[in-house]
Amino acid sequence: MDVHGLAGLTAIITGGSRGIGLATADAFAAAGSNVVLTSRRLDSALNAADSINARAEPGRGVVVGMEAHATTPGAAELCVQRTLEEFGSVDILVNNAGTNPAYGPLIEQDHLRFAKTFDVNVWAAVNWTSVVVRAWMGEHGGSVVNTASIGGLSVEPDVGVYNATKAALIHLTRQQAFELAPGVRVNAVAPGVVRTRLAELLWSDHEERLRSEIPLGRIGEPEDIAGLVTFLASRAASWITGQTVVIDGGALLGDASADRAPRASTAEHRG
Ligand SMILES: NC(=O)c1ccc[n+]([C@@H]2O[C@H](COP(=O)([O-])OP(=O)(O)OC[C@H]3O[C@@H](n4cnc5c(N)ncnc54)[C@H](OP(=O)(O)O)[C@@H]3O)[C@@H](O)[C@H]2O)c1
Repeated sequence: MDVHGLAGLTAIITGGSRGIGLATADAFAAAGSNVVLTSRRLDSALNAADSINARAEPGRGVVVGMEAHATTPGAAELCVQRTLEEFGSVDILVNNAGTNPAYGPLIEQDHLRFAKTFDVNVWAAVNWTSVVVRAWMGEHGGSVVNTASIGGLSVEPDVGVYNATKAALIHLTRQQAFELAPGVRVNAVAPGVVRTRLAELLWSDHEERLRSEIPLGRIGEPEDIAGLVTFLASRAASWITGQTVVIDGGALLGDASADRAPRASTAEHRG
């Protein structure tokens, strides 16, 4: 049964060769959507698509891999054109490609790494959305999901540039939603730490500690985020736009390993 209303629709997912993008492509295919996933490398895109298509269950959508660097001029136009030729529509766009070459404190950053981070994490999401809206969604409607981060809502050491890109993306999600309503909904997901290559520095040597700190007791898996992205793209979310949904196991609520004993006795407090 098509509970999501996603069967027969077509989704483009940028950065779909692994991690959250790959899990999201699989989730859309399972819901009956056809998917175009992108990677900077054709072989990575094709391998990712093959790995999903190998699950040959009835009712699943078809996944196609395409080479497309998120910021190469003309790449979005070519990808959208080929998607329209292949499947006849682009109903969903997931701006998922992301990068973090600017690790370290702000005073150590150079313009090249700063600009690359903003180009891939911010400009690409603006540009791919614009291209998809001009080519299809402007006339036929659709849904866009941007991949932000809880980093865009807080301040942390060493990821200041990356977090600033995600803060910008959260704001731009609201701006896009306002400009593109009522035909196109635009929302964002803001994950906490998820088990992927991009975030490896954040979890690989600290998973035990993270488990004790995160209220729901574990780091995220790519499939956790994929479930939220498919929900936001589905008809169940048809009255939601401009929102950024945090999905972090409760991490932003506070450190679950901290001493939760009352700071003062009741008597002292009254005193
Ligand atoms: N993992 C986390 O903890 C976490 C938390 C919050 C937000 N996020 C966000 O989630 C998104 C997905 O990241 P992930 O964690 O799943 O990382 P990942 O497993 O390393 O995947 C990153 C994906 O982005 C693609 N990519 C990178 N640069 C690209 C470019 N210039 N053009 C096109 N594709 C590009 C990669 O493809 P190729 O290398 O094959 O080109 C890959 O498919 C990112 O936007 C990230 O900022 C992640």
